Amino acid sequence: MDIIVKTEEELALMREPNAIVRDCLKFVGERIAAGMTTKEVDALVYDFIKASGAEPSCLGYCGYPASACISVNEVVVHGIPDDRVIREGDIVSVDLCAYKNGFHGDGCRTFCIGQVSDERRKLVRVTEECFFKGIEGLKAGTPLYDIGYRVQQHAESNGFSVIRAYTGHGIGRDMHEDPSVPNFGRKGTGVRLPENCVICVEPMIAAGKWKVRILDDGWTAITCDGKSAAHYENTFIVRKDGVEILTL
Ligand code: MF3
Ligand code: CO
Repeated sequence: MDIIVKTEEELALMREPNAIVRDCLKFVGERIAAGMTTKEVDALVYDFIKASGAEPSCLGYCGYPASACISVNEVVVHGIPDDRVIREGDIVSVDLCAYKNGFHGDGCRTFCIGQVSDERRKLVRVTEECFFKGIEGLKAGTPLYDIGYRVQQHAESNGFSVIRAYTGHGIGRDMHEDPSVPNFGRKGTGVRLPENCVICVEPMIAAGKWKVRILDDGWTAITCDGKSAAHYENTFIVRKDGVEILTL
């Protein structure tokens, strides 16, 4: 494992792609609605990122065919935008990356479409809280798996489960760099995070059980039990005294 520490110059260059991710997620959140297809949401993402002078990092990544991963209800992650129509009551995660200045930014939000069930609303809220619990007290020197420990505590104490098959990650000139950042783990273990590394923490939390399977398209991951999952992600710098979140 090789965690890449960034210089202040590199960190300055990373602000722009991450600000574009932040603004794009906000833009999408203000427009996503029942009746749209996931493909139409992906077009919003593509157009926004291009208009910002950036590239959608996901498009063509390992053959991925779209600019965003759009995952509805039982789809946990890597939902390929298609003709699926978003309906009132759905929860829809939109995960996207932008590339500019030689660096990537990465973020994800799960949106509630109109009136959603109490369970889904709670799942979306707790998943977001899991991110903030996960980074609570985080600073240079924190053991890596403290993040997952905190995420898991919060998810399970709310009756939910943590997806195991996907993790957060370092980010920089590559979309995925070391370390892998699981959303479960044992407190006090793992590498100590160095000052000025940049990582993405992205809890994926299931209302039911954590087992997933991948559809024949090779990407779409769904819960085996068919219950909903939510996803929330930010990119941040690990500083001496805390974190500096780039996508909020
Ligand atoms: N944005 C995702 C992440 O959080 C990666 C998407 S995989 C891709 O790591 F193929 F869509 F790019
Ligand atoms: Co990510």
